[in-house]
Amino acid sequence: MTTIAITGSGSGIGAATRELMESQSVNVIGIDIRNAEIQSDLGTREGRQEAISSTLDIAGGKLDGLVTCAGVSVPFDPKLMLSINWFGTMELLEGFKSALAKGDGNSYVVAVSSNSTTITPNIPDELVSCCLDRDEPKAYALLDEIDSPEDMAISYAASKLAVARYVRLNAPSEDWAGNGIRLNAICPGAIMTPLLESSINDPVFGSAIKHLPIPVGDFGSPTLIAKWIAMMLSSAADFMCGSLVFVDGGSDALIRPIDWPQSFTI
Ligand SMILES: NC(=O)c1ccc[n+]([C@@H]2O[C@H](COP(=O)([O-])OP(=O)(O)OC[C@H]3O[C@@H](n4cnc5c(N)ncnc54)[C@H](O)[C@@H]3O)[C@@H](O)[C@H]2O)c1
Repeated sequence: MTTIAITGSGSGIGAATRELMESQSVNVIGIDIRNAEIQSDLGTREGRQEAISSTLDIAGGKLDGLVTCAGVSVPFDPKLMLSINWFGTMELLEGFKSALAKGDGNSYVVAVSSNSTTITPNIPDELVSCCLDRDEPKAYALLDEIDSPEDMAISYAASKLAVARYVRLNAPSEDWAGNGIRLNAICPGAIMTPLLESSINDPVFGSAIKHLPIPVGDFGSPTLIAKWIAMMLSSAADFMCGSLVFVDGGSDALIRPIDWPQSFTI
């Protein structure tokens, strides 16, 4: 039987993915701070290590897939947001890598990034680099320099940009592609979940989110994102490696139409 782990399985996109995968007879091990078999706080190093070891115990040391959905958004403490969204993703990707490499065929990983990576202006490159360098103290020090409440969104976007860059940088390597692990990311736009609802209800951020241009009309649904994730967890993803799949109703295309892909000069 195919066994996968899903972080953030207790709500929203993670819960919708869990339901869809279970309907396809996949054995799902849920990891979340609540509503899951493995209840761990991915905002702490101990919680992440506990999540990894408990999952591997249940899975018998071998996983066929992984989805990293656990996350928080504005309004939330910026450091904790970076800790959960980036370190809570990266450490689990690293922690499950060898269990994913043990299968007979390919295994599949979907990291949940966001279209905030491309539609949020002024994400400091230095902050994203600190994340990728795993320099937590420096990353938190940089966040201390951000003082206006509106800039809390920078922490969210930086955490998601770090996830996207991690995927691009690592997916083609011997450790991942070479070991039969297909590592890709999905970048959802505004999806109606409890996370989006609390951002919409916030007096500082609500208005910008309500007025986000979405060319196809309305917010997306978690069940729709789950369908894309399910495809990226299947053999349909055998030729996908380091892809960032934007499913965002057209916001990124509208706001950044020609910024990427980019030509380059040699
Ligand atoms: N909803 C959107 O508009 C949207 C857009 C782009 C990306 N995303 C990303 O999708 C992912 C899922 O978000 P969602 O919208 O389904 O939100 P959600 O709030 O419905 O689900 C997030 C889950 O993460 C869990 N979680 C939060 N903090 C945790 C912690 N410290 N340790 C363990 N688990 C924790 C929550 O308990 C919850 O079950 C997140 O990474 C989010 O950033 C969401």
